[in-house]
Amino acid sequence: MVSATTMHHRRRSILQLALLLLAASPAAMLAAGGACEREEFPAGRSYATCADLPALGASLHWTYDAAASSLSLAFAAKPPGASGAGWVAWGVNPTGDGMKGAQTLLAFKSKGAYVVNTYNLTGYRPLSAASTPIAFEATELAADEGADGKVRLYGTLQLPKGMEAVNHIWQVGSTVANGVPAKHAFAQENLEAKGSLVLTGAGATEAAPAPVFISHDYLD
Ligand SMILES: *[C@@H]1O[C@H](CO)[C@@H](O)[C@H](O)[C@H]1NC(C)=O
Repeated sequence: MVSATTMHHRRRSILQLALLLLAASPAAMLAAGGACEREEFPAGRSYATCADLPALGASLHWTYDAAASSLSLAFAAKPPGASGAGWVAWGVNPTGDGMKGAQTLLAFKSKGAYVVNTYNLTGYRPLSAASTPIAFEATELAADEGADGKVRLYGTLQLPKGMEAVNHIWQVGSTVANGVPAKHAFAQENLEAKGSLVLTGAGATEAAPAPVFISHDYLD
């Protein structure tokens, strides 16, 4: 079942890429060129692949060790609002394509230093101040801020064997109140911050956006 799902995603991704290229606007071409390739991280943090994500000006950098099914990643996005006050989050949804069920990593500044929490999202309800357990072992969690004001969230996820494509979501929020990340805006861009990500292979150009209108198919 896992491999059937993976094939399904691969075909989708290729189809989406074809549609993207057919409809290539200058903006889409720019994204395909890989602005993420110019992003720099501190020494010791380098990744095999990067993708400019289709919403919220975010990018994902990752190295996937297929033999160990270990995903090492950096997610970068600029929270709206005052510098240092917001949060960024990235996650994998093993059971659906949206927020509900997503296993997420969320970074924000607390007492002057960035922390990364994990959240098992069970629906549109307020988050807790403390992490909740997620389905994947998450290690090497850290975050910092780039010169461009983007918050970069780092981590390594131990994924189930054979997981070659995942549904992922990402988000930014402007506020953390009393240690609790407050809900994000619900603008079009916020709602479009999800897609299918092929972990193996060339990566960047295959990480085409999953249009909302067909992504419901993933739930079948
Ligand atoms: C995440 O939440 C769902 C819904 O409450 C639950 O079924 C699942 O076991 C939780 N996952 C983990 C890893 O705790």
